[in-house]
Amino acid sequence: MDLVDPFGRTIRDLRISVTDRCNFRCTYCMPQEGMKWLPRSEVLSFEEIERLSRIFVERFEVDGLRLTGGEPTVRSHLPVLVHKLSGLRVPVSSRSPMAGKAPDLSVTTNGATFRLVAEELRINGLQRVNISLDTLKRDRFLQMTRRDELFRVLDGIEAAKEAGFSPVKINAVIERGVNDDEILDLACFGRDRGVEVRFIEFMPLDASGEWGRHKVVPQDEIVANIAAVFPLELVPARGAAPADRWRYVDGAGIIGVIPTVSHPFCGDCDRVRITADGQFRTCLFATTEFDLRALLRDGSDDDVIAAEIQRAVGLKWAGHQINQVNFIRPARSMSQIGG
Ligand code: GTP
Ligand code: 5AD
Ligand code: SF4
Repeated sequence: MDLVDPFGRTIRDLRISVTDRCNFRCTYCMPQEGMKWLPRSEVLSFEEIERLSRIFVERFEVDGLRLTGGEPTVRSHLPVLVHKLSGLRVPVSSRSPMAGKAPDLSVTTNGATFRLVAEELRINGLQRVNISLDTLKRDRFLQMTRRDELFRVLDGIEAAKEAGFSPVKINAVIERGVNDDEILDLACFGRDRGVEVRFIEFMPLDASGEWGRHKVVPQDEIVANIAAVFPLELVPARGAAPADRWRYVDGAGIIGVIPTVSHPFCGDCDRVRITADGQFRTCLFATTEFDLRALLRDGSDDDVIAAEIQRAVGLKWAGHQINQVNFIRPARSMSQIGG
């Protein structure tokens, strides 16, 4: 049975945060110090995550599961969770291209420790990986992530390719005056390494609350920058994915832009989220959460949990209001929501 929101959008994609913790402190996400981590008892167990995922996949025909953080690889035994989730099957009767198969199972990581788990994740059924890389300069990497680990991330990207993940996508958050002079260099990195670089407009989800419109580099500028050197053509049919995509006319691959601020894509949104502490959010920018953990832990059966999910989706709003004066920032920042 499809999960459909009041605006006729069918939910197909579930993003699951497996931890709020992270080994980086990216300035656009976390403060340098003072993050308060969730106590272990408040974080969903693998069994709880599997149970919720089963409801989404088997009842509601969700065909994409993405594991996020914080940094998902800092959660111990992540491959065990991947193994459990890869055993789920989208119903044969579903209209999804994944009908009868495992859902599209992916991870978004900062890549720093990815080499340590790449092979094991692959063996256990992980299909895709997206890795963050905002700069190719060591000193700037230290400034942006507050960790001197550029080389480990570059190695993590190689490890992802070696383990056979395809595609490997690179997420680069672009901030005005911070790394906007590297758009072309990052594009060249993607062309050389055979990875799809996606440029992300800075969103108002930084813990320090320093986001401002003047810090956003809009999609049109990013694309113009690259197209001036390497001609691009738009890849039609973006579907529900957040990224608009272009291909290099010379055949050297694809770039994407995630234009949350300059070209909101909420009208096509097919996503919902579960935070590490089991709160259900129907939008990245939602200001309301639904407590699925309470139901998981009070003996409620799957019908009750499914009904609560339907109730929440029935209240999903049309989209974020970043460009309106009445925009309210979510109380939690990116690492706590899960990206
Ligand atoms: P693919 O399935 O590989 O296309 O992944 P994705 O782009 O959906 O996921 P990823 O975790 O790599 O996220 C890339 C960027 O898109 C991050 O900055 C996310 O925060 C952002 N993003 C993901 N979902 C949403 C969404 O629903 N709304 C907005 N505005 N941004 C999103
Ligand atoms: N704006 C845009 N993207 C962000 N990310 C984290 N914080 C922000 C923000 N404020 C990205 C990370 C990672 C993904 C999970 O979210 O770079 O790619
Ligand atoms: Fe960690 Fe990702 Fe946030 Fe950076 S953006 S601090 S890597 S959760």
